[in-house]
Amino acid sequence: MERKPSILLVGDGAREHIIAEKLSEANAKLICLCSKDHPGIKRLAILSSGKFYSSEINEKTINEILKNNKVDFAFVSPDGLLFKGVTDMIKKHKVKVASPTKAQAMIEWDKSFARRLMKKHKIKGVPEFIASNDIKELNDFIEKHKQVAVKPAGLTGGKGVKVTGIQLKDEEEAKAYAKELLESKYSGIETVVIEERLLGQEFTLQIFTDGKNIIPMPLVQDHKNLLEDDQGPNTGGMGSYSTQNHLLPFISISDYEEAIEIAKKTLNAFYKETKQYFKGVLYLQCMLSTKGIKVIEFNSRFGDPEAINVLSIFQGNLAEVLESIANNRLISSKKVSFKRNATVCKYLVPNGYPDNPAKDKEIIIAKPREKFYFASVYEKEGKIFTTSSRAIAVIAKDIDFYSAERRVEMDIRTSFAGELYHRSDIGTQKLIYKKLNYLKELNLM
Ligand code: GLY
Repeated sequence: MERKPSILLVGDGAREHIIAEKLSEANAKLICLCSKDHPGIKRLAILSSGKFYSSEINEKTINEILKNNKVDFAFVSPDGLLFKGVTDMIKKHKVKVASPTKAQAMIEWDKSFARRLMKKHKIKGVPEFIASNDIKELNDFIEKHKQVAVKPAGLTGGKGVKVTGIQLKDEEEAKAYAKELLESKYSGIETVVIEERLLGQEFTLQIFTDGKNIIPMPLVQDHKNLLEDDQGPNTGGMGSYSTQNHLLPFISISDYEEAIEIAKKTLNAFYKETKQYFKGVLYLQCMLSTKGIKVIEFNSRFGDPEAINVLSIFQGNLAEVLESIANNRLISSKKVSFKRNATVCKYLVPNGYPDNPAKDKEIIIAKPREKFYFASVYEKEGKIFTTSSRAIAVIAKDIDFYSAERRVEMDIRTSFAGELYHRSDIGTQKLIYKKLNYLKELNLM
């Protein structure tokens, strides 16, 4: 009889919805803990003969769930919960976990740690930076480099970084923002990281790892800006694409290998520094820049939406991959592959998002042909409603990303109705050509 592992999955976005789907396809019994009544994850948990809990996610709830359920291993997905130490809470019950502890997730929640780690271990890919809580040191760095990225060291949901020439007009505004971050301790950490401004195109590399071995996933490009043409404020991510050859239109195989090498060296350095193996999914936000491949930041988890791109073409048994991480012995990369399909994912968000979102508005869903995943919505009397955050991710795969884009766009226009907005340009030829032309101007193509 096929084994049915019992897995505790903690988290409740579109990313966790597809993780739950892939685990249920792997014949898992899902014990899901969400902070809200997530309609998609709830359905999957019930169909898997598991349990669904919607509650505040804290030590008390974790204790209760683990008292009442036999769990083979757990996976904690979102950054906020990793920072809160939910992995550590679960481990106290001697349950194995495939995600990082709070100390391991420091690679994401303290950008100054990640930068110093790379510098100390001479890992290629670190831009010039300063990490300090001394305003004079920060100002000196800004005066020296002029064009900079100013970053709070802690977690900000991707919304705290400001760059001169984009959100910051000039050196003076950069200095004022650094001072504001220091004084407000905006991200909960009193350190500000300032880096030289890099020019190029960003891309995402995600890898499965037990801290020693890795399985790299296809590359993805995310779009953080709210508006078409990569304009407007930063969001949690409005959509993303990946290509059929698992690279990107501007990334060569040697660039991909270089990014993987950086990931391996970082994991090695992480172990040397902390005497702990980083376990779970390591995410590298990289840039093909005029100064080479650089790491913009690390995350200690799958990206959202990037998880949706890679998992929709994942071929293998996700439960087995995660369980092998929980057991400190990542399975052979031969057991995992990714379909040679391109993918395009677009987020539907409430009109007015992120500043003034149309909350509590009904979303009508009329038989979509493509796959979709619920992010932040709730169900009442059989109807789906918006909250203040991203609502639904729609994804299509096809032989190339232009074809996938047409499918997603068609599906969004014909199958979803409500007070919703999405970016229609993600994955289009026009936007990709614009990015390629920009790289040509920088002599990177
Ligand atoms: N897509 C960016 C992130 O997950 O942080």
